[in-house]
Amino acid sequence: MSVFSPGTPVRSAVGKVFSDPPMPRIPGRGNGPTEAARSTAKDGWRNQLEVFVTTHGEPVWELIQSVPLLSRTANKALTNIAIMKFPTRPEPLSTMADYTSWDSLTDRTFSSRHLPPASAAGSSLPPVEEFEALFTRTEFVESPKSTVLFSYFAQWFTDGFLRSDRATPPDARRNQSNHEIDLTNLYGLNPDVARQLRTLEAGLLKSQEIGGEEFPLYLCENGEIKPEFSNPHLKPVQFDEQSLETRNQLFAMGSDTSNLQIGFVMHNVLFLREHNRIARLLGEAYPGWDDERLFSTTRNILTVVLMKIVIEDYINHITPTIFELSLDPASFPNERWYRQNWMAIEFDLLYRWHSLVPSSYAIGGQSIPIGETLYDTETVTKYGLGALFEDASEQIAGQMGLVNTPPELWYVEALSINMGRTVNLRSYNDYRELSKTPRVTDFDQITGDVNVRDQLRKLYGHVDNIEFYVGLFAEEVPANGVCPDLLGRMVSMDAFSQVYTNPLLAPRIYNEETFSPLGMDIITSTKTLSEIVNRNVPQRDGGYYVSLTRKDWKRSY
Ligand code: HEM
Repeated sequence: MSVFSPGTPVRSAVGKVFSDPPMPRIPGRGNGPTEAARSTAKDGWRNQLEVFVTTHGEPVWELIQSVPLLSRTANKALTNIAIMKFPTRPEPLSTMADYTSWDSLTDRTFSSRHLPPASAAGSSLPPVEEFEALFTRTEFVESPKSTVLFSYFAQWFTDGFLRSDRATPPDARRNQSNHEIDLTNLYGLNPDVARQLRTLEAGLLKSQEIGGEEFPLYLCENGEIKPEFSNPHLKPVQFDEQSLETRNQLFAMGSDTSNLQIGFVMHNVLFLREHNRIARLLGEAYPGWDDERLFSTTRNILTVVLMKIVIEDYINHITPTIFELSLDPASFPNERWYRQNWMAIEFDLLYRWHSLVPSSYAIGGQSIPIGETLYDTETVTKYGLGALFEDASEQIAGQMGLVNTPPELWYVEALSINMGRTVNLRSYNDYRELSKTPRVTDFDQITGDVNVRDQLRKLYGHVDNIEFYVGLFAEEVPANGVCPDLLGRMVSMDAFSQVYTNPLLAPRIYNEETFSPLGMDIITSTKTLSEIVNRNVPQRDGGYYVSLTRKDWKRSY
């Protein structure tokens, strides 16, 4: 099916009805009839050595992990190696122009870019519609490692800072991001939005009780947005196309996409509860604090708690390494890469992990088509947060890569390919080179999937013509990893340098004075999403099972 039309506004087709039946499932790609050996000739000796060292010798890594000084040294070294795979910020160019100007170095409504534009990208490329078979799944390929919760978290977390232009039609060069991990999805893009979501008493966010659990307030009354939520940033994307019934069950939440999908709603509700929980604890511990101080300190604590989870739960799930990374702000007081964060257009594209999305969601013992999980808060209030996080932790996500995007989301892939063309991104091979990795010279160096190779050959003729977005997902996912190689290198570099340059982690700010002793305690004692879920849902014997990693995942050697 092709619903792509050039110039379609951001997320414009989200509201369309998805009705395709669930796909059959096959385990993660193996050596099936369409698999042949991939040549590693162009993997680069340094990459190969790093992968070997970090994924072998478990007893040695366990020893390093157990000795604090060694562990800190390894943590710092591995983080620095990941960031230094690419040139450091600031990038000389943004999407504003193909030369550097003061405006282009400072106007962050344009996206930054890792490589200058190609001179004539797009002119000789096949039409986007011809890529449908290359992206779309016919059979669901399971991720050997990840659960659906991982895809929910990735989608929600990135929505806080990867925010394309919302204009109609959208300008591919522009963004609507604060360029920081600041929980935009919970607090909104600016203080005016936050103000409408706050009770302005005791540092709390507005909430209501439904079925004994805490949820955000409803956004609408009789299908109209309530005057207290009049800020235009609170109007959900596609709002005008929703029925009265759908509108009336939308929640008032910080981002215009917070209601978009059930995974967003779950995470927003969870973080709202954690915000109010922390604010209440601070209120008891520091009775002299006013609403503003309680709100601001809670936000600071929660933002750092999120970054802890990102490194210690999420990144540790993504990376194939044996050593478990930790958030250690004191290790990076003065690094060469310590420069202001700025979302790159390449980062926005490489994070579009739509192949993780299963063909239908398993919720409350039922199989729910993707389309029915959009703009739906009723499922969340009906089943409760604990049960939904558990369901998502027990369902297997899709394997990241080509030929595995649900057909319903092909149009998003088409928009993404088109976006890369509009801003004249350089080729996949150029980005390999930028990451200090040799250029591929043959299709068999990219993937062992013969079908993918054949399609790439047919579409591009030569490996040098492969586009960035397509090449990223054409590569194989390495053993024990989650992302294909180049994508994984780019995600690590951007994610680490984004987290560690957050002002809340700076040497004179990451302390008890900013967060309070109680806040520091909450930060240092939180490591996983499971902890946050289990302390914010009605208690159940044994708690709820919450995991980004599959229960049956085992490291392979
Ligand atoms: C039911 C699941 C999902 C639906 C319906 C969905 C839908 C969409 C749509 C319609 C867009 C806008 C495309 C455009 O206008 O260019 C988009 C963008 C995006 N998606 Fe998804 N998506 C889903 C899952 C995911 C997942 C699992 C991830 C993983 C990280 C993800 C990451 C992104 C990113 C980073 C963008 C770009 C955001 C921006 O620049 O504003 N999505 N998605």
